[in-house]
Amino acid sequence: MTGRFITFEGIDGAGKSTHIDAVAQRLRAAGARVVCTREPGGTPLAERLRELVLHEAMDTLTETLLVFAARRNHLQQVIEPALALGDTVLCDRFTDATFAYQGGGRGADVGVLGELERWVQGTLQPDMTLWFDLPSEMAAQRRAQARAADRFEQEDLRFFERVRAAYQARMNATPQRFVRIDAARARDAVWQQIGSALEARRW
Ligand code: TYD
Repeated sequence: MTGRFITFEGIDGAGKSTHIDAVAQRLRAAGARVVCTREPGGTPLAERLRELVLHEAMDTLTETLLVFAARRNHLQQVIEPALALGDTVLCDRFTDATFAYQGGGRGADVGVLGELERWVQGTLQPDMTLWFDLPSEMAAQRRAQARAADRFEQEDLRFFERVRAAYQARMNATPQRFVRIDAARARDAVWQQIGSALEARRW
């Protein structure tokens, strides 16, 4: 028995977090056992690594290795056991974020990222990735109303343009896994798109 692995992606300010709980509620109401988690993080060790990645200055390779170290621990301790039990795992960001932020944003070598991906997760990939996409300017406006910015949220518009383009490249590489959500629209319209994606898979 293998559960479903659903990931949520997008640039900071896309508004994905508010919808993850709603997806969990909907799937639970349909009888699924649902685990909600996030990256970097999801275990005590990975949450400590998250603190470092979000707040300590470091070079891009160090950042990349810490993100993958956190992911390794998270996969072993939480994601893989849950999927083995047949649970549905909802993960707020996963490896696409590494390709987007460390690859697109910071310029890490995509070939190296692909190697690390293979080492850390083998062939495991999400069954579905909801990519909350919107223009970088709009995301910046939404972020301006939110709390204090971490190391990523302090980056400029061009950084987020590169992150967005890298998400698009990931989607182009495996289009069957991705659902692009138009996150520029109002919250209800965003939720409708998510509902359609779940219905299309009979989830
Ligand atoms: P985010 O998921 O937006 O959480 P919050 O809603 O609490 O701000 O923040 C996590 C940050 O980590 C986000 O800016 C993207 C970054 N990140 C990476 O750079 N690489 C990764 O592999 C992952 C998973 C996240």
